[in-house]
Amino acid sequence: MSNYHIKHLEEYFQVYRKSVRDPEAFWEEIAEEHFVWRKKWDQVLKWDFKKPEVKWFDGARLNITENCIDRHIPTRGEKTAIIFEPNDPSEEPQHITYRELHEKVCRMANVLKEHGIKKGDRVCIYLPMIPELAISLLACARIGAIHSVVFAGFSSNALSTRINDSDCKMVLTSDGSYRGSKTIDLKGIVDKALEACPGVKTVLVAKRINSKIKMLKGRDKWLQPLLDHAYADCVAEIMEAEDPLFILYTSGSTGKPKGMVHTTAGYMIYTAYTFKNIFQYRENDIYWCTADIGWITGHSYIVYGPLANGATTVMFEGVPSYPDYGRFWEVVEKHKVTQFYTAPTAIRALAKENLEFVEQYDLSSLKVLGSVGEPINEEAWHWYNNNVGKKKSPIVDTWWQTETGGIMISPIPYVTPTTPTYATLPFIGIQPALMDENGQEIMGNQVDGRLCIKFPWPSIARTIWGDHKRYRDTYFSAYEDKYFTGDGALRDAVGYYRITGRVDDVIIVSGHNLGTAPIEDSINEHPAVAESAIVGFPHDIKGNALYGYVILKETGESRDRDNLRKEINQQITEHIGPIARLDKIQFVSGLPKTRSGKIMRRILRKIASKDTANLGDTSTLLNPEVVKEIMDNAL
Ligand code: WT7
Repeated sequence: MSNYHIKHLEEYFQVYRKSVRDPEAFWEEIAEEHFVWRKKWDQVLKWDFKKPEVKWFDGARLNITENCIDRHIPTRGEKTAIIFEPNDPSEEPQHITYRELHEKVCRMANVLKEHGIKKGDRVCIYLPMIPELAISLLACARIGAIHSVVFAGFSSNALSTRINDSDCKMVLTSDGSYRGSKTIDLKGIVDKALEACPGVKTVLVAKRINSKIKMLKGRDKWLQPLLDHAYADCVAEIMEAEDPLFILYTSGSTGKPKGMVHTTAGYMIYTAYTFKNIFQYRENDIYWCTADIGWITGHSYIVYGPLANGATTVMFEGVPSYPDYGRFWEVVEKHKVTQFYTAPTAIRALAKENLEFVEQYDLSSLKVLGSVGEPINEEAWHWYNNNVGKKKSPIVDTWWQTETGGIMISPIPYVTPTTPTYATLPFIGIQPALMDENGQEIMGNQVDGRLCIKFPWPSIARTIWGDHKRYRDTYFSAYEDKYFTGDGALRDAVGYYRITGRVDDVIIVSGHNLGTAPIEDSINEHPAVAESAIVGFPHDIKGNALYGYVILKETGESRDRDNLRKEINQQITEHIGPIARLDKIQFVSGLPKTRSGKIMRRILRKIASKDTANLGDTSTLLNPEVVKEIMDNAL
């Protein structure tokens, strides 16, 4: 029997050693025993981090939806697969059984086919957190289409860039979405985006808010009548192990967003196996991840990982503050949630509110608490542990990335003793390395360095859509034969890892990964702006907030500064989305630059964080005088 479910610490160490000593034998056993295949593989692993190329289970054939849905029907047909909890607590939740999910996915898959979608085509999904969202991912996977979900908080500009980058033929959206007390005109955003997307032939629209929207003849169709008329069964397309399953965009430190490509078999196996162990999921548990399916957390740990295990997964449409700050806990009580997975930024926001919001609900069903997206600070960790977990539910601080597909470093609850702010130990099969500035691996404990991974794991992203060179340059060129994460980390005396944060120009704001370059590009498009630089600075709720340094053109000098600030943020909202707005904007006459013209962000970061006691060496700057001016006028 393979070690599919790890239950104690010695077992973890033993299985970990096995997974590192002979990764192929280890993953082969997991694949054999816990998944259904149309054809077995010819080779478990083929890899070369120089090319880079990674292939898991090459030659195998399968369909991920047969693993996530069909195979559960004989034993769990009437079990709830998805609980949909609407934005408004007075609206009834929906319980979708595995049998019903099968039918809904098949109908949707048939609708996609009727509209010309074939294996390998890209479909853009721009939907709020309603059941149609999870169903459309699975419907694409059913017929071998590649889904590209764009978070429905992104602007029309961000949406059109992503649609065009991967040549999506179709967009799935809704008439609008609810977000707390507000509604958002999603269809309007899609219409605007599509002015720049000639390749999109069809837009299928789910009805959610019953708003009056424009439907473009020949292109736009209401989804529901099509689903009602579609056939309720759809034969699954047989896919190769390495066929792409989806594209998901993430920000880089430079350039346009990177379309990370995840493939079928390895992604399925790794998300399923991590889900089972890191949430210690048992039959009849009710698992809830509060993320949006627009992010990798939702793909891997709302949809694929849970469903591959026949679990019950909650999809929440709302926000933690509506109708009040007790909403999360009300949902936990209502559905008797056993595993709860959220982001530090949400915990910090809730910790600021009255404790009564937590105390009035019965949280005794909870067994495991999860955290993801950014380092969890000690205060937030204790608040979560004391008030939500009542000191009896272990907190799993899970470190991973869009690129890794699944959780990489994390405690296993009830197995690994936890320490606040530590993601603790590498998960089974994961071989981390800390690297120094000279490219050497730092051995031993009580050390810190740049976090790399030395050996492929099944759910590593295989490429960047349309740009394999960028994939190699970004992840495999900094350190020879290693995947570079972009994060710094330390390893303590017992070998536990603590992630210390990004070491590149990516800034994590409220758990969202933002690259500096696209935001600076957006600011620079303002007619009054000559140049700009943004950095992150510590913020009690968001973790980091954005601080912009802006040089005005001569024509901008006479303008009202507060109006300019508003216009700049408005522009960022339109280009990227509200998550990328700047908290502070300082107008400066110059930016500190090296002699080769590179902005010295290190100095700007220190000024923004009010940590100017030791600015480090500024003598190599082209324009050292500008530093004093910026410091004197810092916000
Ligand atoms: C970056 C990846 C993976 C799902 C959500 C974010 C940071 C993520 C943790 C954690 C410290 C974390 C890293 C990473 N990060 N989880 N538990 N502790 N930092 O996915 O948008 O691809 O961002 O988020 O900096 O590189 P993403």
